[in-house]
Amino acid sequence: MGLFFNNKRKKSEKSEEIIIDKTNIPAHIAVIMDGNGRWAKERNLPRTMGHRAGMDTIRKIVKESSKLGVRYLTLYAFSTENWKRPEDEVTALMKLVVEFIGKEINELHKNEVVFNVIGDISKLPQVCQESIFSAKEKTKNNKGLTLNIALNYGGRDEIVSGVKKIAQEILDNNIKVEDIDEQLISNHLYTSGMPDPDIVIRPSGELRLSNYLLWQSAYSEFWFSNINWPDFTERDLHKAISDYQNRNRRFGGV
Ligand code: FPP
Repeated sequence: MGLFFNNKRKKSEKSEEIIIDKTNIPAHIAVIMDGNGRWAKERNLPRTMGHRAGMDTIRKIVKESSKLGVRYLTLYAFSTENWKRPEDEVTALMKLVVEFIGKEINELHKNEVVFNVIGDISKLPQVCQESIFSAKEKTKNNKGLTLNIALNYGGRDEIVSGVKKIAQEILDNNIKVEDIDEQLISNHLYTSGMPDPDIVIRPSGELRLSNYLLWQSAYSEFWFSNINWPDFTERDLHKAISDYQNRNRRFGGV
């Protein structure tokens, strides 16, 4: 149940009715936005055009998640490993982040979205940091969906930086070793105060976590599909949510 695994959508899938229980919407949905490069290659376009098309999908999925009442949507946009990509692609991605904020922030604000970034933004270009800062400031008191964009994010890097902060607090005599528990560690991650993701969605056919939300996804449901991110639609989101609602989450119990 739940593995939706067809690159080309079958006719029956297009017409199949998707039923969502509006009383059991996942509070936190995390997405690995994969397949932009392949989407572009299939169309003989430069990879950056795939990222641009992926940006249009972000707009649609944020809107739909907001409408459904999802509380947190966390999108993996740039990992700590993505610096290894060609310089022009890295530059284009950073420019797209600035463009996205510039074009979308008023609409996001109007829809009560809280804009947030998880990851080490100190390594991002100055212009990027500035636009993130102003978007966060503008939307910080909103009451709707929190949109987390993971930028220069790595799950291991996040845990390392959390451990360093905890160690420093022990050295400063603010906490004791005995105070370390799961909650304390959660509180020292970028997602402090947020619920763990209920579901992690990865389109494009790759079946791995790629250093995403390692601590937080301990009990997440995983949902994979072969659709590339630029082709991902509101209907795919509905399908993922509906499959999630039909799973039996036991959290280690029976
Ligand atoms: C993975 O696909 C995608 C990324 C590394 C970048 C995701 C970025 C966006 C969707 C747009 C920019 C972000 C914002 C927040 C506006 P890939 O390039 O690895 O695809 P491939 O595996 O098919 O090559």
